[in-house]
Amino acid sequence: MNNFEFYNPTQIVFGKGQIEKLKDLIPTDKKILMIFGGGSIKNNGVYDQVKKSLMDHTLFEFGGIESNPKYETAIKAIELARAEKIDYLLAVGGGSVIDATKFISAAINFDGDAWDIPSKNATFENPLPFGTVLTLPATGSEMNCFSVMSKGSDKLGFGNPSLFPKFSILDPQVTYTLSEKQLGNGLVDAFVHTTEQYLTKDVNTPLQDRIAEGILQTLVEEADKVIHIKEDYESRANFMWSATMALNGLIGSGVVHDWATHMIGHELTALHGIDHGRSLAVVLPSLLRELKEQKKVKLLQFAQRVWGIEGGTPDERIEKAIVCMEDFFNKVGVPTKLKVYKITEDDLPTIVSALRSHIPANLGEAQNIDQDMVLRILKRAL
Ligand code: NZQ
Ligand code: ZN
Repeated sequence: MNNFEFYNPTQIVFGKGQIEKLKDLIPTDKKILMIFGGGSIKNNGVYDQVKKSLMDHTLFEFGGIESNPKYETAIKAIELARAEKIDYLLAVGGGSVIDATKFISAAINFDGDAWDIPSKNATFENPLPFGTVLTLPATGSEMNCFSVMSKGSDKLGFGNPSLFPKFSILDPQVTYTLSEKQLGNGLVDAFVHTTEQYLTKDVNTPLQDRIAEGILQTLVEEADKVIHIKEDYESRANFMWSATMALNGLIGSGVVHDWATHMIGHELTALHGIDHGRSLAVVLPSLLRELKEQKKVKLLQFAQRVWGIEGGTPDERIEKAIVCMEDFFNKVGVPTKLKVYKITEDDLPTIVSALRSHIPANLGEAQNIDQDMVLRILKRAL
């Protein structure tokens, strides 16, 4: 096992009706800015629940954070927060709203061009404290200190230990209004967060591996109910907690990380508007096929423990496992081929060079995924 430090201060408040606890989670002397997206929370009652719980607090609002949150919109929220001397932020939404809130928290007391925070890893001071009410299980942003922001065709991630939410409220009932498409995206995102930290180099981490396998198996087992039964509390609860556990640092401690699927996927989102989860479902199967020798030990373990594959040569077992994974993505309504998005071979060089301009170094756990390999991975995904 590799050396590691594990730090996660986010308080999780999980279960039915927990939004009413907001009033106890934020001190009453705080001036709060509630940040939300395009309006889903007004249609499903979450907005009303938040307002009711915080009726004795001073509460301002900023709506309109888009999916793949835009820098320019976050800057408008910062202007409002500065003008009103806000000292606490509350994100109510999915990963995009939470990520934008993290950026607002980091940038509010930053002198200069705030885009330097994601683009140049600029240091910032005195971030605002914030909490979240999660409405979409997927990103894990509710219990980690990372954020992904977009400006033009740049989609960049950043992170800082000062950007963990103080608390996150996870009420699985608020997921009942999610579309099948968003549920499928969320299942795939959580699945791929897990594989990015599990299907890498074996460094003898049986506990982390078994937790990762538990997350993958739970997602696979619950997926059918999650997608097809609208108000099944238990399956939504298991999905929601799995997605949080997939990217809160626990399974990533002491193991070797990959993240190449995410980095390539971000370019597909930035250049072709493909939803985050959908971008990953296209890249991961091809990446695993391309790197099957390097990832052999873990891929064989994945085949046996997650999919129960026993017979055949190692190569056959690995291929079967990748096919099982593709079937799973397709079953939850998420395609695994670029052609669905009308992306052809001619589009690939632009994607590869955009990636190289954002991340000049090679990708992957062995830092051997260079431009040529990215191109091969994308060609396999056509
Ligand atoms: O904007 P509203 O109206 O709220 O609608 C949203 C949005 O259209 C809707 N939605 C959310 N909760 C709902 C709901 N609709 C009905 N009922 C509900 N309960 O769903 C749509 C998608 O929301 P969004 O927040 O964009 O999705 P997601 O949570 O998948 O977040 C995606 C973003 O997170 C980043 C992605 O790159 C992308 O920008 N990621 C962040 C990570 C992190 N911070 O650790 C890691 C991830 O790998 C990922 O990169
Ligand atoms: Zn992701």
